[in-house]
Amino acid sequence: MINVGVLGYGTVGSGVVEIIQKNHDIIAKRVGEEVQMKYVLDLRDFPGDPVEKILVHDFEIIKNDPEVHVVVETMGGLHPAYEFVKASLEAGKSVCTSNKALVADFGPELLQIAADKNVNFMFEASVGGGIPIIRPLKSSLAPDEIEEISGILNGTTNYILTEMTEKGSAFDTVLKDAQDKGYAEKDPTADVEGFDACRKIAILTSLAYGKQLDFEDIYTEGITKITDRDICYAKKMDAKVKIFGSSKKVGDQVSAMVAPKLITREHPLYSVDGVFNAILVKGNMVGDVMFYGQGAGKLATASAVVSDVMDCARHQGININTLWDADKLQLMPMDDVKNKFFVRVSGTQAENAAKVTEVFGAVKAIDAGYADEYGFVTDYITEGTYAKAAESLGNVISKIRFDS
Ligand code: HSE
Repeated sequence: MINVGVLGYGTVGSGVVEIIQKNHDIIAKRVGEEVQMKYVLDLRDFPGDPVEKILVHDFEIIKNDPEVHVVVETMGGLHPAYEFVKASLEAGKSVCTSNKALVADFGPELLQIAADKNVNFMFEASVGGGIPIIRPLKSSLAPDEIEEISGILNGTTNYILTEMTEKGSAFDTVLKDAQDKGYAEKDPTADVEGFDACRKIAILTSLAYGKQLDFEDIYTEGITKITDRDICYAKKMDAKVKIFGSSKKVGDQVSAMVAPKLITREHPLYSVDGVFNAILVKGNMVGDVMFYGQGAGKLATASAVVSDVMDCARHQGININTLWDADKLQLMPMDDVKNKFFVRVSGTQAENAAKVTEVFGAVKAIDAGYADEYGFVTDYITEGTYAKAAESLGNVISKIRFDS
């Protein structure tokens, strides 16, 4: 019998309890022994909820109970989640979490404690919700050198961009509608500014290269400046705007960024719309592999957490080696990263063409029918070259990177 203690009976925590109860038999068969809920920790009471019988308000009860084998952390936030997770591991319990902030900040330290104690620290649900991506990176893709990770890692922003594309509406209108429907948070900053995707690509990149990539080091651009005009230009180019968390091996260096990008229909992630997430991983042996599914939601995310609980149950007394050292992964300077750029400038093509060619070289002009501006797509140039050229042009309205 494997006993589980869940910290936090919110959306994901209650989903974990539901799955462990509803799928009890199939889980038991696959693990080889029963998995049961022993405690749920929450500050609140839940009168009438069956969980009432196992509800506790004091974490020490779970920590000090030698019969608890696996602790599930679904509280969110850094504190006291970090202290509770650390204490659980030190008490010889495996921990499964959906908390990306915790994993991005304290991943190497918590993995090391788990290794020292011969237990496991697992975090499948911290990136891509229900999509299996952490376990594939750790095991299925383990023989490969990871050359590139490119992910639509945030459902809220993918929904907003999809609605802007399909309805031709402005960002603010779609955001308000998404908030009214409950698809976007009241405070949408973490999603729309790219901070959520930034932590997720930090986790994936750290795992891919075995070193700590601090999310603060990743260039991050959200979608708040994407306008209905950008969407019109995208349609002219038979492209879509998506926000990507991406990282790439360039020689012996690694680049990483979160930014909106234009992709054409040849791109494997072109049809990933609405709240769905998808991650494309390029291995040097396996080639391209793609993971698609629900990046959020109660049961999808909880399913990923329970898959970790089952893995812990199958590996009692065995630490599954996870290569993610505390050594810092130094990113290549942003100025050296190469991209193609779609650039909008004020004025007509006739007025701008000579100067644009002078500073950017050959470009492809895009006319979306606006009298006061036009656009063009550059060749691959470095971010540093782009910045200097845009400054010298002086009338750039906006730019979006072009992933082709
Ligand atoms: N706010 C996140 C999203 C939830 O929209 O994808 C999952 O991290």
